[in-house]
Formats: sequence, structure tokens, C-alpha cells
Amino acid sequence: MQAGRAERRSQAWFDTPELYGWLRHAALKAQGFTEDAYLGKPVIGICNSWSELTHCNVHLRGLAAAVKRGVWQAGGFPLEFPVMSLGEYNMRPTTMLYRNLMSMDVEESIRANPLDGVVLLGGCDKTTPALLMGAASADVPAILVTGGPQLKAAWRGEELGSCTDCRRYRQELRAGRITEQDWADLQDGIIRSPGHCMVMGTASTMAAMGESLGIAPPGNADVPAADSRRARLAESAGRRIVDMVDEDLRPSALLTVNAFENAIRTLHAIGGSTNAVIHLTAIAGRLGIDLPPDRFGELSDTTPLILDMKPSGRFLMEDLFNAGGLQAVLREISHLLYEEAPTVTGRSLGQNIAAARVHDREVVRTARQPMDPQGGLAVLRGSLAPDGALIRQSSASPELLTHSGRAVVFESHDDVEERVDDPGLDVRPDDVLVLRNAGPIGAPGMPEWGFLPLPKKLLERGVRDMVRLSDARMSGTAFGTVVVHVAPESAAGGPLAAVRGGDMIRLDVPARRLDLLVDRGEIRRRLSETPPPSPHYERGYGWMFTRHVLQANEGCDFNFLRAGGAAELSGDRST
Ligand code: FES
Repeated sequence: MQAGRAERRSQAWFDTPELYGWLRHAALKAQGFTEDAYLGKPVIGICNSWSELTHCNVHLRGLAAAVKRGVWQAGGFPLEFPVMSLGEYNMRPTTMLYRNLMSMDVEESIRANPLDGVVLLGGCDKTTPALLMGAASADVPAILVTGGPQLKAAWRGEELGSCTDCRRYRQELRAGRITEQDWADLQDGIIRSPGHCMVMGTASTMAAMGESLGIAPPGNADVPAADSRRARLAESAGRRIVDMVDEDLRPSALLTVNAFENAIRTLHAIGGSTNAVIHLTAIAGRLGIDLPPDRFGELSDTTPLILDMKPSGRFLMEDLFNAGGLQAVLREISHLLYEEAPTVTGRSLGQNIAAARVHDREVVRTARQPMDPQGGLAVLRGSLAPDGALIRQSSASPELLTHSGRAVVFESHDDVEERVDDPGLDVRPDDVLVLRNAGPIGAPGMPEWGFLPLPKKLLERGVRDMVRLSDARMSGTAFGTVVVHVAPESAAGGPLAAVRGGDMIRLDVPARRLDLLVDRGEIRRRLSETPPPSPHYERGYGWMFTRHVLQANEGCDFNFLRAGGAAELSGDRST
């Protein structure tokens, strides 16, 4: 230990006369390390969610090598370790069912091992929030490095984004406007490089949240995965984490209330994913910080949307990178941010962004001439959503933001699959499609079923959007007038369970309202007659999930994982 430095965490593992202290040295030597490689050095974990089951994280071993170079350069000792990985395309019923499990893996892997600092490597939608939730709870110095967005895709001269344009062309296929061969051609080129989806979907949004929270380095959100600057960013992070150990700069010092407000402002300015609301709420909850939905709504009302990016606009992440990156976006809204917020660079957010410049005003607008004077997301309340609901107003049809229509109710995702294309389905373009039993408990795991497919017979008539609402989530790459995260969910007794086919529903986004136009006494009567849902699981992780998961407005974390969680176990549904 150098003179004057506080004892490092790893010393409790290595500087002990116990047999296991001796064995730990033997175990390092067994891997070929000499004592010169590690003695007296901070041990830096590289927490890697690499997996061949998660295509967007499959290049992370390469980034881990770059991080290791940086750690060695700065005098640290890097050790890479795997954690669970959550691939959006493969996992059933949904990655969201496993986000909390991965966060526990991250937290306990850090806590149980001789690590002085950690570099967190993730990229797909749920891996990034799970890494941050686990690291926040473990509270060991940590830097987030995400894998970076994919390069732009192109097809027949049109630039395409994964997977906003997959969804759009899927609708065209169902409407008979493109052929099966077209659809196959599209598949060949839609993902043309390593990295995560390159629209402002959940992966891009969460990478941006890390940067605006101050726990990811500048450039993290937008340097493409295939650009050599991504590896250099990772190498720099490896150097920097060694200094952060000496500075004892922990997540709890970075992830403050002000940092979360900066992230929420950023979320609205970039037209970010609705899923980020759930994830930010969960990360904050690990630190004892409450982020009620209404705070997201208040900050949306006073934050301009300035990024023109799919699914709300036209451009892709590579365009943002070339236009100056997220740092330039942050500088554009700096008057709304807590610029003194600390970051992993050792400088404040304001110092980081001082030199940032916008190079393309088509991509990043000014705060004075924004895409919209309000943020991308709106929080709704009303008789149908007493604890809130969300809509990404920036990707909705303006003419549907104030709309009343008849409810066409689907009892489950399977019910949608069975009936939505039935020619006999009684549905009109001005109806409201309602899905229930799709929330955290009801589905379970709150899958991305909220982007309900439009009935084929309406697609064939040229209809391309309808008001849709559910207690599910929606992919960050999806679009349309889609209300999600209705809370409480129907399986927890929310009023969504009381909706009957033919009831009138009113959506009024300017007034922030979502109402079932049925007498409140009648709603209560219907709910009292609704039987509780049958449990999905008798044992195992799923059983634990459905007993302990919180509602969407609380971040869908487990009640016992929030800071002070043990005290909250009175809310355990088993009691
Ligand atoms: Fe992993 Fe989109 S599927 S980021």
C-alpha cells in the first residue's frame, strides 16, 4: 500500500494470514500472473454482459480488452468476469422479467469479490439498467461503457433504423404493400455492424442516460460500435477507473437527485424511450431516491425536444455522432441542467460540455427553435390510470393526441394474436385498442406488447395509427399513439380490468388525462366482480418475481432491492 492511501477493499481478501488469503495468491499465479502483475495494485473488475445470445453485446469482449489495456497503463490489475446477459430478441417471455435478476448478479458479483473498482460493459436494452442498478447497490467505484450504436442500415436508397423500420415495413407487409421477397431482402441488411439498435430506442436512450447521469464518459451515447473511437473510449475508461478508486468516487456520489433530474431533462430533449422512465426510477430507488411519474411530467413540460431522431424524427445515432454527439445536445439545454453535477471524468457536467458544438442543425435543433417546445414523453393520469400512464407524444399522430373512441378489448397477448386479423372483428379506425393482463404481474414481466398490431382489415384500408393502450411496455424503437405503463395494472386491480368492449375512452394528452367514461360507481362494481388472476408460477424465480415486483410507476424493481428494502417488505404480497 502506498503511504497515505486508505486501505483498498481488495486488501481484505489478499492481505490476510488465513489459508484463503494464501490460496487467492495461488489462484492468480495459476492464471499465469506474477506478483509484479498484481501486488499492491487496485483490482479492477470488468463486469461483462457479453453473450452470443445477445447480438448487440457480442463485441464486448473486444471492448473488455481495450479496458484492460487502460487499466494496465494506469497501474491497476484488471480481472474480467461474466454476468447474465439479456438479449431482446431471444429471451422469453421478456427480458424485463430478468432485469432484476441480472441486477442481483451484478450487485452480488461485485460485493462478493475482491474488487476495488468496476467497469460495466453492456449495450442491449435491459443490460445497461441492470448494470447500473447492481452497481448502485454495491456502491463500489464504477464507470459504465456501453457497446455503441450500430452503423446506419440502408435498403433501396433509404436509410433504415433497427428496429423502427422493421416495424414499419412489417405493417406494410401485412397491408400487402411489399412482398415476402422484399421482407427477406430487408432482413439481410437491417443490422449491418456490431452494436445496439441505432434509433433512439431503449438501448440508445439508456446509453445517453448513463452519460447524462455522469456515470458514463462523454461520447458513450453515440460513438458507433464499429468506430475505432469506441475502443479508445473503453481504453480511457480503463485508465480512469484506477484514479476513481484512489478518489473513492462511488456511484452514490454521482447518482444524486440533481443527476437524475439532468437525465430526465435529457430524456425529454432527445425524445427517449418510455422504458427509461421505469429504469431510471429503479436505479434511483436503489439509492433511496424517489422519482414519481409526475416529476417526469413536470420536467417534460419545460424541456424542449431538440433531437430529430427516429422513431420520433428522421435521423439515426450515427448522424447524432457526426452532429456533435450527446455532449452537444447537453450543451444546448445546459440552462436547464445542474452543470455542477460531478461525473466520472473528475470534472463537472458543465466542464465536460463546455467545448461541445453542434455541427448539423438538422439533427440537433436549438432550444429556441426545437422540434417541440415540450419533451418527448407525457405522463397521463385519470380514472383509467390513477397511478399514471405514459405516452411518447413525439412519435404519436398529432391528430390522435386528443381523441375519444370505443374500447376494443383484448384480454391477453394471445387474444390479440388470435383475433386482431379476424375479418369479423368489430373495429373501426376511431376505436381504441385496449390490452390488459400485460403488466409486471399479469403478463408476467411487462413485455413490450404495447405496440398492438393494427387490424389487417384497417391496414388494408390505409389506416396506419390508432390509439392503443395497455399495462404493457413498448419497445423504444416503436412509434404511434400508444399509451403504456397504465398503473396499477389490471392484474393488480387497476381500473383497466373494468373496461368493457364498447365503453368510451378519452385520451387528452394536452390535458395529461386518460379516462374511462364510465360512472365511478360502475367501475368499482365491475372491479369487485373481477376474480384475481391465477398465479403464473408455483416455484422458482418467476414465483419470486410476481410476489415482489413493484408496479411500473415504482420502477418494477423488487421491493426488497430498493434502498431500505427490508423495511418495505410489509408490502410483500405473501403477507
Ligand atoms: Fe439489443 Fe436493440 S435488440 S439493442
